[in-house]
Amino acid sequence: MNVKILETAIIAFLALIISSPEAMGGQIENTMHGFAIMYDGWNNTGELCVVCHTPHHSKNTVSGSQLWNRDDTTANFTPYSRHSMKSTPGQPTGPSRLCLGCHDGTIALERFGDATSGNHYISLWGRIGTNLMNDHPVSMVYDSTLSNISGARLRDPSTSPSTLGGTIGQDLLRNSRLECTSCHNPHGGQNNNGYMLLKWPADPQLCLVCHNK
Ligand code: HEC
Ligand code: HEC
Ligand code: HEC
Ligand code: HEC
Repeated sequence: MNVKILETAIIAFLALIISSPEAMGGQIENTMHGFAIMYDGWNNTGELCVVCHTPHHSKNTVSGSQLWNRDDTTANFTPYSRHSMKSTPGQPTGPSRLCLGCHDGTIALERFGDATSGNHYISLWGRIGTNLMNDHPVSMVYDSTLSNISGARLRDPSTSPSTLGGTIGQDLLRNSRLECTSCHNPHGGQNNNGYMLLKWPADPQLCLVCHNK
């Protein structure tokens, strides 16, 4: 199929499952995920979305993934843990697994669709790795029970505003869990900010959406 037609088809098909008008947030072309125009030629399809999504034959092995065109990571992660934590993050779930499918550094970037090999990996700079001890915890349930036992260190996600329109729970969590997408939009952040953050600037505004101090 002609590349342009395929891209248009993908966009049209994905548009059907867009859940909210702000789903696309910023402009992916202007981000480091604008793969069609950047990077060492590893994406030689000339398409923007196909690196992560496909309209057909998608690999929906990760629960909740949407027309995903990549394999799930098989890495065994070391989740964040500290004695001060009230929640207990386990292996990454949902959207965080999708991100880590590139950002853990175990799966070559050009391994999308039918490709089974490749030799371009995420750079050392963007590599979160499989040891998540030095990263903000992800994939733990963040609900009113957690905010209650946190002794007011966390806001109640069922009532506190996300500042994006709804509550923290509605806008930032997935199945009541905090994920990479609680802070980042893979298609580009607010006002096309750096780091594709949902809020800008990152600190302290982003942190204080959920934390009370
Ligand atoms: C770097 C990978 C990546 C690229 C490239 C990418 N997406 Fe996504 N997309 C994601 C991830 C990850 C999710 C899941 C987000 C979530 O679950 O919160 C997603 C979800 C979506 C959704 C579901 C609604 C939503 O926003 O949650 C739509 C629609 C979508 N993408 C469209 C597109 C289109 C159209 C393109 C090309 C212009 C594109 N995406 C390019 C990673 C990508
Ligand atoms: C197709 C593989 C792929 C997927 C899937 C993917 N990324 Fe990336 N991401 C990259 C690459 C490649 C870069 C460029 C930097 C590098 O190579 O280290 C990047 C860069 C970034 C950056 C730096 C942006 C900047 O402007 O400084 C952030 C933040 C990021 N990704 C977050 C995410 C999150 C969150 C997800 C999941 C929702 C995700 N990525 C999914 C490949 C991916
Ligand atoms: C609590 C909010 C938050 C969560 C959750 C989060 N990030 Fe980030 N991330 C940030 C902020 C803020 C930055 C900006 C740089 C900084 O302050 O270190 C960033 C920077 C990055 C970068 C740029 C390179 C670097 O290492 O600094 C990448 C890549 C990235 N995040 C990927 C991810 C992935 C993948 C996940 C899920 C495993 C994730 N982030 C979860 C807030 C978050
Ligand atoms: C979407 C909500 C949310 C956002 C945004 C957020 N956090 Fe968190 N953060 C949490 C939750 C939930 C925990 C788990 C707390 C627990 O289990 O005790 C946590 C845990 C932490 C911890 C570990 C606490 C410990 O006891 O070890 C630190 C440190 C932290 N966050 C800092 C930040 C910073 C810095 C930012 C901004 C870059 C940020 N957070 C943004 C929700 C959030």
